[in-house]
Amino acid sequence: MLTIFLVQNAVLYGVIITSAKASGLIGARHILMAEKYKIFLADPPWNYNDKAAAGARGASFKYPTLTLDELGSLSVRGHLVRDLADDNSILFLWSTFPMMPEALALCHLWGFKYKTLGFNWIKKNKSGSIFLGMGHYTRSNPEVCLIAVRGSPPIKDHSISSVIFSERMRHSQKPAIHKLIERLCGRRKRIELFARARVAGWDYFGNQLVKSQP
Ligand SMILES: C[S@@+](CC[C@H](N)C(=O)[O-])C[C@H]1O[C@@H](n2cnc3c(N)ncnc32)[C@H](O)[C@@H]1O
Repeated sequence: MLTIFLVQNAVLYGVIITSAKASGLIGARHILMAEKYKIFLADPPWNYNDKAAAGARGASFKYPTLTLDELGSLSVRGHLVRDLADDNSILFLWSTFPMMPEALALCHLWGFKYKTLGFNWIKKNKSGSIFLGMGHYTRSNPEVCLIAVRGSPPIKDHSISSVIFSERMRHSQKPAIHKLIERLCGRRKRIELFARARVAGWDYFGNQLVKSQP
């Protein structure tokens, strides 16, 4: 028996083969998704080619990294990111400044149009002083989360500041901006790519997922 779930505005998510004779798709199993995602938050494992340059501090020593090509063709539960996005959706994409060209390219590869800065995270030390990172030119501090859109996603709250001033945490850990995004865009269907912590109301994808956040 072949059961097909057809859901408004959905892609081929709902094909479950329950009989060996159903078709050539025997054995195939796809995840049903009733609705495409309207909000994406992503913090990619950028590949800096930093093995020699950054010693054991580099990202590639903390987790596997992905090239731009690999990120562009990323498959989440069997589907390309660009196929998971609703016609009116928004992407929040963390980038460092050296990776800015790749970040802009990734917006395009995932089917979004770069718009503007979402959040500018200014890192401080525990003491409250401004953190001073390394850098080939000036000593680095901020990391940015870009906004890119597909179509015209609704913006619900125009009072939210782009500046986040908070302590730096463990390697690569970003401030939790989920609630700000919910205020900005509403509690629409949302997913965090490369998540390390689960957040209520969000779907998530990542190979270092740990525990829930309140
Ligand atoms: C920059 S970190 C994300 C940090 C996270 N935003 C935080 O605040 O803690 C990138 C994450 O992507 C994960 N990752 C790398 N390759 C992956 C893959 N192919 N599939 C899923 N996750 C991957 C890494 O293990 C790492 O946890």
